[in-house]
Amino acid sequence: MPTLEPAPLLVELGPGVVSAGYRVDDHARIIAELGSVTAFAGLSESAVPKRRAEFLAGRYAAREALAALGLDGTPGRDELGCPLWPTGVAGSISHGAGRALSVAGHSRDVHGLGIDVEQLMSPAVKDELLARICDDDERSVLARVNASEPALVTFAFSAKESLYKCLYPLVGRFMDFSAASVVDASATSTPSGFVGELCLELAVDWSASFPRGRRFRSPFVASDRHVETGVVLRP
Ligand SMILES: CC(C)(COP(=O)(O)OP(=O)(O)OC[C@H]1O[C@@H](n2cnc3c(N)ncnc32)[C@H](O)[C@@H]1OP(=O)(O)O)[C@@H](O)C(=O)NCCC(=O)NCCS
Repeated sequence: MPTLEPAPLLVELGPGVVSAGYRVDDHARIIAELGSVTAFAGLSESAVPKRRAEFLAGRYAAREALAALGLDGTPGRDELGCPLWPTGVAGSISHGAGRALSVAGHSRDVHGLGIDVEQLMSPAVKDELLARICDDDERSVLARVNASEPALVTFAFSAKESLYKCLYPLVGRFMDFSAASVVDASATSTPSGFVGELCLELAVDWSASFPRGRRFRSPFVASDRHVETGVVLRP
């Protein structure tokens, strides 16, 4: 049996959402333990060890999340890399900051789920990506949270990725980071970082069901190194 070290999801996503998470530190060991599990096939063998280990640990976490729903199996992968969950289930996978995380829920409880974990950006990376991720209005909204700008931009980046992962299976199209705006932000400090929430508003029509103006909550938990965000679409 694999002996991955647990790294539970920190962000609270509400009733009906189950999760599993593992540390992804020792890539060689994870590949040795999980690389021959056929249920986790689907990624090119030529992928670099870090990517293979993250993929395998993410699939392992997804299998554990499905097991917590009473289901056996592992999500497949479509040709664009989107996970294929069993009928009647919504879920999401993310890896980063030395973790692989997955969430799942029955469709009667959740229509869509997206999670994202990111290492906090350095000031240089923030400067490079800022213009792609948020505009000046969003920066002023984010400043309601008393964190550094690289941290705030990482929170926005991660929340937008969670939103995309939540809606993509329902919308089926690529949307860039200007397709949603941060319109509110709040957080409280904790001994290790922040617990808070961003509010995202669709800036364009994503589909007939998800028009411009629709709002989504994205709770987050941040340490001094990383942030975890989520978006849950309820029936
Ligand atoms: C797809 C994307 C969201 C993945 O995020 P990431 O931070 O690069 O990587 P993460 O580790 O958090 O997530 C990767 C996992 O997301 C899942 N994923 C990939 N494509 C996905 C999609 N279209 N929809 C939902 N989940 C997807 C996969 O499970 C993948 O892991 P796996 O390949 O090991 O199975 C990102 O690469 C991307 O394309 N972003 C641009 C689109 C966007 O976010 N727009 C914002 C709109 S406001």
